[in-house]
Amino acid sequence: MDLGLTGKRVVVTGASRGIGLAIVRAFAAEGATVLAGARRVTPELEKLDGVTAVAVDLADPAGPARLVAAAGDRIDVLVNNVGIAPPRPQGFLEVTDDMWATTWNLNVMSAVRATRAALPVMLAGGGGAIVNTGSVNARLADPLVVDYSAAKAALTNFAKSLSKEFGPRGIRVNTVAPGPVATDLWLGSGGVAETVGAAQGIDPSDVEAGAKAAMVTGRFTRPEEVADLVVMLAGGNLGNVTGTEITIDGGMITTL
Ligand SMILES: NC(=O)c1ccc[n+]([C@@H]2O[C@H](COP(=O)([O-])OP(=O)(O)OC[C@H]3O[C@@H](n4cnc5c(N)ncnc54)[C@H](OP(=O)(O)O)[C@@H]3O)[C@@H](O)[C@H]2O)c1
Repeated sequence: MDLGLTGKRVVVTGASRGIGLAIVRAFAAEGATVLAGARRVTPELEKLDGVTAVAVDLADPAGPARLVAAAGDRIDVLVNNVGIAPPRPQGFLEVTDDMWATTWNLNVMSAVRATRAALPVMLAGGGGAIVNTGSVNARLADPLVVDYSAAKAALTNFAKSLSKEFGPRGIRVNTVAPGPVATDLWLGSGGVAETVGAAQGIDPSDVEAGAKAAMVTGRFTRPEEVADLVVMLAGGNLGNVTGTEITIDGGMITTL
């Protein structure tokens, strides 16, 4: 299936590993030119054809605009993927203003800032697509990630407003909402499994097993599966899909 992405210019945030790296690879495989932003330029990024990696701290208020500026005078697709999900095993009462602000800043404001910088370029080019990486926690509010859940709900809400304002001018805005995905965020050092395991005095592998058991498919989503969804949403075949959220969670959300 030709998704019409050959030669398109794509900006991806949080792109050095995990879901972001998979998204970069998927767009590059479609023949797109990708600008990939993260704090570190990883060897995995460097070896990809058609990919330019930019070292940028997207938590810095000026970071998102700096990344977008590196794309020059054309952007067809923006993927707001960067995010953090710090577990709060001590509960809501231990979550300080600074913790809330850190989570809000990277999960929401980095997307707001990147979008603000990219939209004028996209509009000047006649349109484009924005895809945000949300989370099932936008609807599956979880006290273990209380600030993250609220931030992802806000990100999904933001995408809907954007889709209404800019849809008439050729910009589609959609959200992918993954459940647990096999990346560092969940399974790496300092990730959800390790942090929750330490707090509860159980092995991280038991935390991982508990998450798997919460999914009908019994497994974590692979980053490449999220990337396939992002690329489909950005591609021309889904040209009348906008303002929506598509869940990819192995059936974790059990209601309709
Ligand atoms: N994994 C899951 O289970 C899951 C589920 C639902 C939604 N999500 C969402 O999916 C997105 C990606 O998650 P992931 O699992 O791929 O996370 P990850 O494995 O932790 O990767 C995060 C990426 O963001 C970059 N990053 C982090 N802080 C940054 C900063 N301040 N400035 C620039 N880049 C930064 C990291 O690179 P550097 O460290 O080099 O900066 C890395 O490339 C996030 O929005 C997350 O909330 C993940």
